[in-house]
Amino acid sequence: MTEPEVPNAAWGGRFSKPPAPAAHALGRSAHFDVRLASQDVDAGVAHVRALQDAGHLTSGEAATLEEALAEVGNAIADGSFVLEAADEDVHMAIERGVTAKLGDLGAKLHAGRSRNDLVVTDLRLWMLAAGRRIDGLLVALIGALVARAREHAGAIMPGTTHARFAQPVTLGHHLLAHAWPLTRDLSRLDEWAERTSTSPLGAGALATSTLGLDPDMTGVRLGFRRAFANSIDAVSDRDFAQEFLADAAICAGHVSRLAADLARWTDESLGWAELDEAYSTGSSMMPQKRNPDTVELARGKASRVAAGFVSLTSLLQGLPLGYHRDLQEDKEPVFDAADTLELVLHAMTGAVATVRFHPEVMLAACDAEGLYATDLAEALVKTGVPFREAHRRTGELLKALVSESRTLRDLSAEEWTAFGVLDGATYLNAEHAISARPGSGGPSAESVRTQADAITRLVAARPRV
Ligand code: ARG
Repeated sequence: MTEPEVPNAAWGGRFSKPPAPAAHALGRSAHFDVRLASQDVDAGVAHVRALQDAGHLTSGEAATLEEALAEVGNAIADGSFVLEAADEDVHMAIERGVTAKLGDLGAKLHAGRSRNDLVVTDLRLWMLAAGRRIDGLLVALIGALVARAREHAGAIMPGTTHARFAQPVTLGHHLLAHAWPLTRDLSRLDEWAERTSTSPLGAGALATSTLGLDPDMTGVRLGFRRAFANSIDAVSDRDFAQEFLADAAICAGHVSRLAADLARWTDESLGWAELDEAYSTGSSMMPQKRNPDTVELARGKASRVAAGFVSLTSLLQGLPLGYHRDLQEDKEPVFDAADTLELVLHAMTGAVATVRFHPEVMLAACDAEGLYATDLAEALVKTGVPFREAHRRTGELLKALVSESRTLRDLSAEEWTAFGVLDGATYLNAEHAISARPGSGGPSAESVRTQADAITRLVAARPRV
């Protein structure tokens, strides 16, 4: 591998010396945008057909170019085509490969196109494919949560606010509270894909070309839903990447929250669940340890996805319209966010599918009498006591019991009568708390099953882009 020794073959005509090594090193993107190689070949083939349709290539020339493009693409994929230090980016590397095979015919490939329209065509195609993979992984994680929720539809556990015991819920209800946000992530991704399915190819550097190419046909050939409506917008627009990063950051945040719950529940001080060994790690020093590294990383990885959104957003704001080399910085955050999300979704699906819940420990934790204080206050409300007064009375009762080192369970029938709820003791019970809340959207086993059915239907019925 050598640095460029002569002016660049693609743009060096008016130059008499090569770029300084430091300038070349700064500008080179081939080592990361090589990930766009197969999309660049597809875009090249669609462009060759556009050139043929417009009469700039014979059908024989077009076929030869297409074949050479495919060969270079395959050679990049199997490692036999080696990027050179002088290759600025993947687009120039592929053109170099085609020209090395075909000479003058290869030199016809770039007519009427620019790397400005090519790079966003490639990136949109790459991201749409990544979006489909993420979509599938999200469906799998939602499926795992729904299956575990059905399994534990009626398992009662302490629900928390501020991570402190609040009111009883069911494990199924809590698990589906993680599944619902992921269905919204799915629909955000579907809507993003619909908007992103716009072909920029044919926009050229900014003003289309004089060669009579048909961008609509090129867009159809590449599987896009539509072609660009404005060539300057086509080469400048990165909001599709920004939107993807925003959606990815929201989704990674949801997965992070799920991971945080699993880390907490598997904490030995709670003992509500146990991660499968395959999703746990040991300590290099402490032989007894089984650590939740998988879920901790799934929790932590959300940070770099969010950083990707911030990075691209600050890159874009203030740039005038038109292509600027700054825009080359768009790709790494996108690749990283997609890679990270794929890793995390895949690992979390396995962790959720294999985690062993301990419903009996969760139920035993429901002995905590504080979980029933709100229901007692509401029992007073049902007798006509205004809620604020009911809240105060219940609070005062709890305060008095604490000072006497007693609990609600120690109250006599007379004391319950004095409080105003004759059957007070029946409220101190997890099954009672759940069966008193049969409504839709609530924690009952029936509601969990209804929710699970609704999620399954929703996932099956969504549009595919
Ligand atoms: N590698 C560049 C990018 O990723 C595309 C090259 C366009 N370069 C140019 N000077 N117009 O954005």
